[in-house]
Amino acid sequence: MGGRSVGPGEGRVAVVTGATSGIGREIARQLAAGGFSVVVVGRGDARAAETARTIAAETGNPRVAPVGVTDLARPDEVRRLAATLLAHYPALHVLVNNAGGYFRRRDVTPDGLERTFALNVLAPFLLTELLADRLRASAPARVVNLSSAAHYRHTVDFADLESARRYSGYRAYGTSKLEVLLLTREFARRFAGTGVTVNAVHPGFVASGFAQNNGGGTALAFRVLEFVFGLGVRRGAEAPVRLASDPALATVSGEYFSRTRRSRGSSASRDPVAAARLYRACAELEPPAAVPKAAGAGQTT
Ligand SMILES: NC(=O)c1ccc[n+]([C@@H]2O[C@H](COP(=O)([O-])OP(=O)(O)OC[C@H]3O[C@@H](n4cnc5c(N)ncnc54)[C@H](OP(=O)(O)O)[C@@H]3O)[C@@H](O)[C@H]2O)c1
Repeated sequence: MGGRSVGPGEGRVAVVTGATSGIGREIARQLAAGGFSVVVVGRGDARAAETARTIAAETGNPRVAPVGVTDLARPDEVRRLAATLLAHYPALHVLVNNAGGYFRRRDVTPDGLERTFALNVLAPFLLTELLADRLRASAPARVVNLSSAAHYRHTVDFADLESARRYSGYRAYGTSKLEVLLLTREFARRFAGTGVTVNAVHPGFVASGFAQNNGGGTALAFRVLEFVFGLGVRRGAEAPVRLASDPALATVSGEYFSRTRRSRGSSASRDPVAAARLYRACAELEPPAAVPKAAGAGQTT
């Protein structure tokens, strides 16, 4: 794509996690094409830098900067990311919590957290919470969370949030996306009246390379399904980008979108008691206290 566009993002800063590949990379590219200053958060300094450079060249927008992380399933790494963002960006207008994954086998991080919950739920919770004051101060601002239609048919087991008693990749992933949706509604309630909106989106079934980390039969099954049914990443990024930037959605908050259509989501996702309880459980696990010292980050302005 050549030529610099003037779009709805002019003068606005957007942070996208998981922006080095898949849907997140395309969200970052489309936001940059729309004029946003974009922060590409990716695993590894070199990959984040290379992605930021490529997106800047593709869009003609020089205001694309990298921030490398190691593993957002590690809360300290989320805290380090938040500290870096707060140190380098006096205003933050859009946060896209995109990084996420599917893990066929139960894995526990060095912090003792189940990996699906840590990456898909706790990381966006903590990052949003740590950036909340900056988002409020930058309002109007928007948080866009990548949920999934996989959230249907699941319920939250508060006695076993990290699937210690029984685990399947399918259940852990679907439940995590239900939890993302519940947290979306709770954050929207907490941000009400501040000019910060929070919405969740199912991007469609997208041929992104999703779940390839599992290898073997799981990776093969996803490859085949994506080949047959998958949308291209461009189309997969459309709904998240719309939620991040469409002026028509400026005051919409606490909603779930199935691609670009507003949808009710499952009945479990509309339970305000469960939403508040999950928020409290996350805050107990990872109290959003003081953040550590900032690491270096590129500047977009
Ligand atoms: N694809 C679909 O059909 C679909 C449907 C519904 C919802 N979603 C959701 O959409 C989001 C993006 O998925 P995708 O399809 O684009 O998947 P993907 O291609 O696997 O991309 C996931 C992104 O998250 C990053 N990531 C993974 N683990 C991480 C970690 N521990 N720390 C930091 N970053 C990490 C990846 O980084 P690397 O570049 O280093 O791998 C990658 O950029 C996910 O939240 C997913 O659940 C996808």
